[in-house]
Amino acid sequence: MLIKNEGWTLADMPDLRGKAAIVTGANTGIGYEIARSLYVAGADVTIAARDETKTMAAIAHMSSGQGRGSIKYAALDLADLDSVKRFSEAFCDHHPALDILVNNAGVMYPPATRTREGFELQFGVNFLGHFALSARLSAILFKTPGSRIVTMSSGAYKRVENIDFSNHKMEKGYDAAQAYATSKLADLVFALELDRQIRTMGHQTASIAAHPGVSRTSLQRHIDPKELDKRMLAFGETMPPTQAALPALYAATSPEATGGAYYGPDGEHEYSGCPAPALITETAKSTQLAAQLWELAEEATSVSFYNKY
Ligand SMILES: NC(=O)c1ccc[n+]([C@@H]2O[C@H](COP(=O)([O-])OP(=O)(O)OC[C@H]3O[C@@H](n4cnc5c(N)ncnc54)[C@H](OP(=O)(O)O)[C@@H]3O)[C@@H](O)[C@H]2O)c1
Repeated sequence: MLIKNEGWTLADMPDLRGKAAIVTGANTGIGYEIARSLYVAGADVTIAARDETKTMAAIAHMSSGQGRGSIKYAALDLADLDSVKRFSEAFCDHHPALDILVNNAGVMYPPATRTREGFELQFGVNFLGHFALSARLSAILFKTPGSRIVTMSSGAYKRVENIDFSNHKMEKGYDAAQAYATSKLADLVFALELDRQIRTMGHQTASIAAHPGVSRTSLQRHIDPKELDKRMLAFGETMPPTQAALPALYAATSPEATGGAYYGPDGEHEYSGCPAPALITETAKSTQLAAQLWELAEEATSVSFYNKY
């Protein structure tokens, strides 16, 4: 396949001065690098995170560099839909526009835990929380010319062939790896379906999916360190978060990135490399699966993209 954007790096990022951006879970890991790079390029970045102390330390670290934009913290716990509502309303009250939303925050393989509303934590945080956030911010996004919603999936999405719509509250038990893969399939299906729906609604916002490849971060905090060493060796080449952030940054800022696309690293198995179109399986493309997921998400979150709240 011809990869037009081979070799895309931070040096290719456009000037983002005057653009407003939100990055979820940007106090650490890949989100930190996404937020920092947007800020360096001139964007006014809001870090939406749940731990104020950690986030303020991250901001102090970022702002000691050469950012041309601004950076601030706002409280968001994606495991609590009231928190998503409070964050979104406060953001819209204080900002006239939103150019870039990066749905980055994620949790992987926690012990069986429920969100405040009773959903399995990975499905609740990685997918439902971001669905509610995107929907609640949709009015401000739709009215901002050229705006983008970037949703972080994972190569792990390919480990499940379907979404079990009868186990989101762990009614049938809990398999951590399967729940993570399900949440990441849901993220990808959501991003693709959102772009189709936006086109139908006649708005110009682009919904784009991305995945970072493999990078050792605090995402793997629930895996035994020795076991993690083995898994990382098996992956072969992995990337530091600075490079793992590139596919999402490409999706968020490159003039060549398009709505409805999915970007990841271009190396073997998409574990590492430069941003390029990533594999979208037939399952992820299924509009029937997307319709079922949408119905569940609207019911679970009591939020719709058509509401202007
Ligand atoms: N690292 C990889 O190899 C890899 C591979 C494929 C996909 N991804 C995806 O890339 C994204 C970033 O992962 P990462 O590796 O950078 O992980 P990370 O270093 O653990 O960062 C995850 C971020 O999400 C935040 N978060 C977790 N639960 C939250 C909640 N309830 N509300 C708000 N924020 C919450 C974390 O906040 P706290 O610090 O407060 O916990 C942290 O800021 C995730 O979506 C992940 O699934 C990563």
